[in-house]
Amino acid sequence: MKNKSAQKHKKNTGPLDHVNRCNQVDDARRVSEEKYATVVENAPDGISIIQDEIIKFANKRQAEISGYTVEELIGKSIYDLVPPDFVSVIKERVALREQGKDIPEIFHVRLLCKDGTIKETESSTKLIQYESRPASMAITRNIAERKREEEKLQQTINDLKKAVNTTVQVLVSALESRDPYTAGHQSRSANLACAIAAEMGLDQEKIEGIRMAGVIHDIGKLSVPVEVLAKPTKLSELGFSLVKEHARSGYEMLKNVESPWPLAQIVHQHHERMDGSGYPRNLKGDEIIMEARILAVADVVEAMASHRPYRSAWSIKIALEEIDKNKGILYDNTVADACLRLFREKSYQLA
Ligand SMILES: [Fe+2]
Repeated sequence: MKNKSAQKHKKNTGPLDHVNRCNQVDDARRVSEEKYATVVENAPDGISIIQDEIIKFANKRQAEISGYTVEELIGKSIYDLVPPDFVSVIKERVALREQGKDIPEIFHVRLLCKDGTIKETESSTKLIQYESRPASMAITRNIAERKREEEKLQQTINDLKKAVNTTVQVLVSALESRDPYTAGHQSRSANLACAIAAEMGLDQEKIEGIRMAGVIHDIGKLSVPVEVLAKPTKLSELGFSLVKEHARSGYEMLKNVESPWPLAQIVHQHHERMDGSGYPRNLKGDEIIMEARILAVADVVEAMASHRPYRSAWSIKIALEEIDKNKGILYDNTVADACLRLFREKSYQLA
């Protein structure tokens, strides 16, 4: 048995078998290399290997993007491939990487092409070993087309914002001309709402939406009779129910306005309360969008602190006590805290 096994083993390690096995390994390696070469040479992105700030390898696409041939690229310094004002940016990145600091894997590179034009590209790099030494592999993508599309989109958004702004201003003037008591209320509430949003760390885009909705939030009052709006005494139940309709009619007026922000929803929800006791739909907690929760607090504070036909101005102190007392019940906790911090610690003033 032992002998049989030894013979079998001997048979498998004969010289012919060894040659066969070597050939098989060579074949496998060749197939594998061909596979990699096909992938690299047909990649839709530029691929290059950089060592000691010199290009050691570049694929066809890298050559196409830069306008050089592959042969011309090999041996070039990476600093010859960016405009002079971009050299320091690249040097800084190289230095940070050498210090072992974290740098973003994908970054924007302005590529200086052979014909002197500059292309906007996005590059991602990875540290690798090349010919047994550390090197960087860079994948370069031409993003000129994407940049152009982004700029066009941004321009459309800006135009849309301008158009919405003009519409909003017209509506605000219309409302304030028939309801002088709320003149200024909307813009002061909008300012406070933006300050609260900034205090909470919301992004600029959201804050812009809050401002726009803030200056228009009572627009539905255009459909409330002037006699009710200007009544110098406390409103009857009927009068109050007419006033309450303004949130819904504001939504109806704005729901078809094309805008980058949820203006109609903010206006619709600015009298909703966290415990569901608000109006017009008795929404609760998360059902109320954050922008509306912020505007709700700003609206209450401004309204309580300002003059109304049926009562003299309440002090800001009383307004803040109302927010403090009902935070987590009527008002969102985070919003209320940000508002209280603004007045109590950061000397915010209604303006
Ligand atoms: Fe309102």
